[in-house]
Amino acid sequence: MTQDYIVKDIALADYGRKELDIAETEMPGLMALREEFGETKPLKGARIAGSLHMTIQTACLIETLVALGAEVRWASCNIFSTQDHAAAVIAASGTPVFAVKGETLEEYWDYCDKIFAFEDGANMILDDGGDATMYILIGARVEAGETDLIEMPTSEEEEYLFAQIKKRMKETPGFFTKQKELIKGVSEETTTGVHRLYELSKAGQLPFPAINVNDSVTKSKFDNKYGCKESLVDGIRRATDVMMAGKVAVVCGYGDVGKGSAASLQGAGARVLVTEADPICALQAAMDGFQVVLLDEVISDVDIIITTTGNKDIVRIEHMRAMKDMAILGNIGHFDNEIQVAALKNHKWTNIKEQVDMIEMPSGNRIILLSEGRLLNLGNATGHPSFVMSASFTNQVLAQIELWTKGGEYGKDVYVLPKHLDEKVAALHLDKVGAKLTKLSPEQAAYIGVGVDGPFKPEHYRY
Ligand code: NAI
Repeated sequence: MTQDYIVKDIALADYGRKELDIAETEMPGLMALREEFGETKPLKGARIAGSLHMTIQTACLIETLVALGAEVRWASCNIFSTQDHAAAVIAASGTPVFAVKGETLEEYWDYCDKIFAFEDGANMILDDGGDATMYILIGARVEAGETDLIEMPTSEEEEYLFAQIKKRMKETPGFFTKQKELIKGVSEETTTGVHRLYELSKAGQLPFPAINVNDSVTKSKFDNKYGCKESLVDGIRRATDVMMAGKVAVVCGYGDVGKGSAASLQGAGARVLVTEADPICALQAAMDGFQVVLLDEVISDVDIIITTTGNKDIVRIEHMRAMKDMAILGNIGHFDNEIQVAALKNHKWTNIKEQVDMIEMPSGNRIILLSEGRLLNLGNATGHPSFVMSASFTNQVLAQIELWTKGGEYGKDVYVLPKHLDEKVAALHLDKVGAKLTKLSPEQAAYIGVGVDGPFKPEHYRY
């Protein structure tokens, strides 16, 4: 049999298994789903094309999907986020995985293509950021000769994406159209991917139902916030070993990721400034004790600059020219277009170590750029800890079960999981943190208008 995986070194599988065994002890939600659904195998028949950071936590997600009956093929959704021992343990267990930390963009789209290579094609997508979904949908539109395509994040990625689409079209005529028709649904992990799905739906271009996992409360209000609270500073420290206490940092964006990021830097002793475009989030930042500023006005005084917006062109070349000598610059949002890295191409780059570069500006000032502007908590560190990813991935598995078993009941639109499942995900994580839940009496439940067993909040409640 030919080898059906691409990993850095399959010999890392033993190390991967040891770390995976530890991760399982911190991922009670996923382990509970294995317990609950391991016998009935609700994902039997599902052929899931997965595109999500190939970490140890994701390995635990993949093994859960397989335990529930699915066939899975996997790639990472970022060129720097793979943990090679995690990829190795999954490949060694017999699940095809195509992911190497530091892969090229050309390889990235080739690996994205390979996740659909089931004998009969994939019938489900599990996505993070939307690249796997866009690959099929843009490919199908190119195949149909259509030109009004949804804007891609960066011109660089666009070039490699289209090259891969052309290659596949030549090798397998009709591939994208056939593959698109096979897909029963997609579950999407992150804010940026969800944004793309809503745009597709608005344009009438979403051909299957999608579940927005990000906006489960137990995802965005935990992973995006408490996850970044741990992993942002972890990434900066592993990259630079810089003393954080006393430094001045600016966090661009105060959404869920921005809130966690600002708390992360503050917890490490930095003085934190925030920029925001939304008055509600700006007011939240101010009332959480952060000075809300304009980037233009503070850029030459700050030591650390972090983007968290999911928007483009936040740190522009004029900002980089104005930065202090040895300022640290990084992004924790999904795509690298938050920082105009392309504008630095003609400057002098000195590679310090993997995913850390020092760039000399015309003034002689140097910038330490993390992960070439790609999400630094996964590029320079190992992403969020297992416990918080357990909550995110429990939502992912529930979304896959819902779409696979009841997809026909959904329209071609974007949905969130019902609140009782969101509450279930949280409930599965309480024991591990020693939390005891108060039981409402029937009278109390009736008085506040909820069920004794939930849902405990109306849909409009914001947490
Ligand atoms: P969000 O929508 O809650 O927050 C983004 C905030 O940025 C908003 O409040 C918005 O007003 C603000 N913003 C937009 N343009 C701005 C500008 N020019 N200047 C200042 N502020 C601006 O989104 P969320 O959930 O915080 O996600 C942000 C990004 O992080 C997304 O790309 C998401 O996919 C990604 N993400 C990354 C994770 C990681 O582990 N690295 C984890 C979860 C999400």
